Amino acid sequence: MAILITGGAGFIGSHTCVEMLNAGREIVVIDNFANSSPKVYDRVRKITGKDFPTVECDIRDEAGLDRVFASYKIDAVIHFAGLKAVGESVAKPVEYYDNNVGGTLTLLKSMRKANVKTIVFSSSATVYGSENPVPFKEDMKTGGTTNPYGTTKYMIEIILQDLCKADPAWSVSLLRYFNPIGAHESGLIGEAPNGIPNNLMPYIAQVAVGKREKLSVFGNDYGTPDGTGVRDYIHVVDLAKGHLFACDRALKVKGCEIFNLGTGNGVSVLELVHAFEEANGIKIPYVIAPRRPGDIDFSYADVTRANTVLGWKAERTPVDACRDTWNWQKNNPNGFDD
Ligand code: NAD
Ligand code: UFG
Repeated sequence: MAILITGGAGFIGSHTCVEMLNAGREIVVIDNFANSSPKVYDRVRKITGKDFPTVECDIRDEAGLDRVFASYKIDAVIHFAGLKAVGESVAKPVEYYDNNVGGTLTLLKSMRKANVKTIVFSSSATVYGSENPVPFKEDMKTGGTTNPYGTTKYMIEIILQDLCKADPAWSVSLLRYFNPIGAHESGLIGEAPNGIPNNLMPYIAQVAVGKREKLSVFGNDYGTPDGTGVRDYIHVVDLAKGHLFACDRALKVKGCEIFNLGTGNGVSVLELVHAFEEANGIKIPYVIAPRRPGDIDFSYADVTRANTVLGWKAERTPVDACRDTWNWQKNNPNGFDD
């Protein structure tokens, strides 16, 4: 009786492994380390004091997946594995569709053979596109994604919805994450991007540790209170806990359900910079730069459904996330290579 976690060596996956183990669940983790390090696993063991099996496996390798399902008694899959860099997806669309969509199809075929029909999927607020008003609600129209990465999330959502229509034995939970930030409070696991970070929080953290000179704030002429982009930043530990609730529910309720996982609050780029400065007593130099193509002004969640149906609520603040990010970053300036 175990939960298979794909992409469990990654940022959100590793934090979810911790929460699952702390809640007494058995897990089996697979990853191909395309964007992570096997060193993560020992950190997860250190935090939880628990051991768990891991298999190096690509989700596009059907025979490899079949062996995993044959070796362990799996009840459900939490599916994080995927490539996630927006800019890279524009340059390498074939690789992104192959890995994310192709990999998910292969996983679903292997699950079906093993008669495992419960899956929790890492979707993204990006599926709301640029036309919907905030706060985003689960029943709003989706699509209109502006890059191949976002389109893979949209396509996988459609595939999983179609699967539930075709076979009522499936349980699917589509989790639309808003902006995950922060790190485990132990400082042992956190986000370790390769190269120049695309996302705001890891960029701020690298400025703080002296790896980057200053932050570029992409646009201060949006129709937001201070002109900079507004997002719903959710602490990764809260997000990880959301998977526990979603997985428990998916194991009980058949069909497809969609949940926003966010805080429900919008925070601007400059507010997050100031929160980091306040939490850690470090000045973050920044310059105002042109808007980044594809960015929207506002993105934040209506979290009523997750709060009421899942009984889950984000508890940590952006200041907590800034403190935990810095604790991780300053102790591991080179991520898992330290
Ligand atoms: P991450 O890159 O840290 O983790 C993804 C993991 O999947 C990595 O360990 C990577 O090695 C693994 N992986 C990739 N392709 C694989 C394959 N073919 N086979 C096996 N393993 C593979 O990213 P994350 O931030 O932890 O994101 C996890 C999931 O959540 C992804 O699907 C991502 O698209 C989604 N998501 C992330 C964000 C975010 O801002 N971090 C927002 C919305 C959705
Ligand atoms: N930003 C900067 N400077 C930077 C990086 C970001 O000003 O160096 C700004 C952006 O313009 C935006 C905000 O900070 O206003 C947040 O940007 P991120 O790149 O951290 O996050 P996004 O909201 O653009 O994208 C994230 C994920 C995507 C996902 C999307 C919606 O990276 O994968 O949320 O869920 F699709």
